This record gives sequence, structure tokens and C-alpha cells, in this order.
Amino acid sequence: TEFISANDLASLMDVSVNEVIKVCMQLGMFVSINQRLDAEAITIIADEFGYDVEFMTSEEEQALEEMQEENEEDLEERAPIVTIMGHVDHGKTSLLDYIRNANVTAGEAGGITQHIGAYKVKTESGRTVTFLDTPGHEAFTAMRARGAKVTDVVIIVVAADDSVMPQTKEAINHAQAAGSPIIIALNKIDKPGANPDKVREELSQMNILVEEWGGKYQSQEVSAKTGQGIPDLLEKVLLEAELLELKANPNRQAIGTVIEASLDKGRGYVATMLVQTGTLHIGDIVLAGSHYGRVKAMTDHRGRKMKEAGPSTPVQLLGLDGAPQAGDKFLVMESEREAREIASNRSQMQREQSLRTRKHITLDEIGRRL
Ligand code: GTP
Ligand code: MG
Repeated sequence: TEFISANDLASLMDVSVNEVIKVCMQLGMFVSINQRLDAEAITIIADEFGYDVEFMTSEEEQALEEMQEENEEDLEERAPIVTIMGHVDHGKTSLLDYIRNANVTAGEAGGITQHIGAYKVKTESGRTVTFLDTPGHEAFTAMRARGAKVTDVVIIVVAADDSVMPQTKEAINHAQAAGSPIIIALNKIDKPGANPDKVREELSQMNILVEEWGGKYQSQEVSAKTGQGIPDLLEKVLLEAELLELKANPNRQAIGTVIEASLDKGRGYVATMLVQTGTLHIGDIVLAGSHYGRVKAMTDHRGRKMKEAGPSTPVQLLGLDGAPQAGDKFLVMESEREAREIASNRSQMQREQSLRTRKHITLDEIGRRL
């Protein structure tokens, strides 16, 4: 099959078509401007210009297209996905703990969050909200970025007895880059040294002006210890989410994002996935990044078995042939053969990439120039 013309390929790579033709000639390929190229030619040419090419199969392409142009009548309301971000120790996990009425913090080594946790919670008012808890530690920038990407609303937690800190700023930047609405939780209000106005002032200096001060950002004083203000915070989150009119089609094959994945000695590869649209079922064939597999089992964050998972639902999934990367998209496919092919193409591409990187480093180390 032929894909695109030399001219189109040139514009995708942001170079002139003459350069493409010149490189082709050097490689012994004679192409004209409007000549359509096959996958092999595209790969070779792109490589010369430093690009890796990924070819999407029709099924995968179709699924992603369908998701974008869903029929209005197929859409149903879905729970908001809310990500909690902020500086280390400002109380993100404690806040979520209080909301969940469970004790997550106690189960974490050293109390420092090192993964993204995903939880579906029913609020007192009977509404369902999916929360993602992110680590505040500076080493986890990528996770904050990912958390901001899959989310509908971001809660930025700032300890009122502390200040706006580097990872507070970073979290705000990620949320803004992702275009997510932001709500500020001024936490630890129970502490004697709490000074929420100081935090509001610091936020205003980075153009985050809260509503009480005439700005557009909702904020709420809370205590994850006493629970003060938390119902109000949830109300504000739900209000913000309502404005977004969040919908998805539960009656289609699932599409979503890998939150994290690892190898568990007893159970094999375990992946935490967030279903964003459609419904995931036991037995579905899942393609996730450069891995695939048939869903063997699904559990919620408490380890309870699930048979299916609809939109905005996080699940722990067993059955993949490896650990996809956090942030990878996943989708359900009809054909196991096609899923396997795409997965193996992708992992081969990754291997080649890492091989190239290694080669490059070796050359550098012995001081040779290319
Ligand atoms: P990382 O996951 O490491 O980024 O931290 P975190 O933001 O999740 O903070 P965590 O919830 O682990 O809380 C840090 C410490 O602050 C713990 O000792 C909590 O008990 C304490 N803490 C959290 N919220 C409050 C609060 O509202 N009041 C008081 N007094 N202490 C709190
Ligand atoms: Mg935490």
C-alpha cells in the first residue's frame, strides 16, 4: 500500500520537497513530487531526516476517529476525573483519604506518594467522582504532566501553613497547559500557623486570582485532618465538572490511558488503566502501547473483582504480555492478530530507537564524530 506523496511527507517533516527528492537520489530512489510512497520508502526517507514513523492500522485509526466523532444520541453522562496535585507533603493523599473514608496514606511506604493512585468515589450527595492522586515529590514531574492530561478538573493543594512551592507552581503549569479548570484547596487550615491569605497573595502573584479576590479561580479552605471545608470543596469540584457537560459512549469498545503498569511476581503484568470512553470487559483484546493481551481479570483499587468497567473508571487489569508505559493510550481491538502485530511493530521500533541511542553514546565516548 502507498500512503502519502513525497510532497506531503516533506511538509509533515517541515522540509522542502526538493530536499526530500535530493536525499532520495542519494539513496538511489528516484521519486517525483507527487509520487505516492510505500511504507518502506517513507521509513527510510524519514529516518534520513531524523524521524521515526509510526503507521496506524485501519482498525486503530478508525477507533480513534470514532471516539472523536461520536453521535450525540449515543453519549451518556460520565463521572468527572479529578486530579489532585501539589507540593510534597501538602496533604493530597490525606485529603483524598478523608474523601474516601479509608486509609491510603498508612499503606504507603514512608507516606510519600510514588505512584499515581486512581480511585472511584461516591460522595455523600451520591455523585460519583474519579480521583487521581499524584506524587508531589520533584522527581515525579512526568506523572504530574500525565495526571493533568487525562483529567477534567485539577485540585491544587497548598498547605496554608506553608507557601506556594516549586511543585505547586509546576502543577499549576501542567494544569494550565492541559487546559483543565483549577480549584485551589488551602489545606491544613486547622494548624495554628495556617495563613491562607498569605497563600492567596502568593498565588495572585502568579496570576492565579481567587474568586473572593475578584478572580476566576474557586478556592476552599480545608482540613484533611478534621474534614472542615471538604464537602464545600467537593461541591465546587462538581460545579466545575457540571459546566463541562462530560459525556462518553458506554456502549462501544473501550479506549483509555495507562496510568501505570508493573510486573507482579504472583500475578504477572498488572496495569492500572483509566477507561475514558466505552466499556472494558473480561475477555476483550487490549492493545496498550507496545503490548497487548486478553483481559483475564479486572479489580478495583480495593481488589474487588469487576466484570466490566465503563467510562471514567480506573481498573487494575491482568492479561497483558508486558508493562506498557504510563501515559500510553489503550484500546480494545477486534482482531488479536492485528493487536499482536501493532504491538510487536511498536516494540521493535522502540528497540531500534534504544539501539541507535546506545550507538550514538559509544561513538561520543571514544570521541568520534559522525
Ligand atoms: P506526597 O504524596 O509525598 O506529595 O504528600 P501528600 O501531599 O500526599 O501529603 P500527605 O497527605 O502524605 O500528608 C503529609 C503530612 O501532612 C502527613 O503527616 C499528614 O498527616 C499531614 N496533613 C495532611 N493534611 C493535614 C491537615 O489538614 N491538617 C494537619 N494538621 N495535618 C495534615
Ligand atoms: Mg501523597
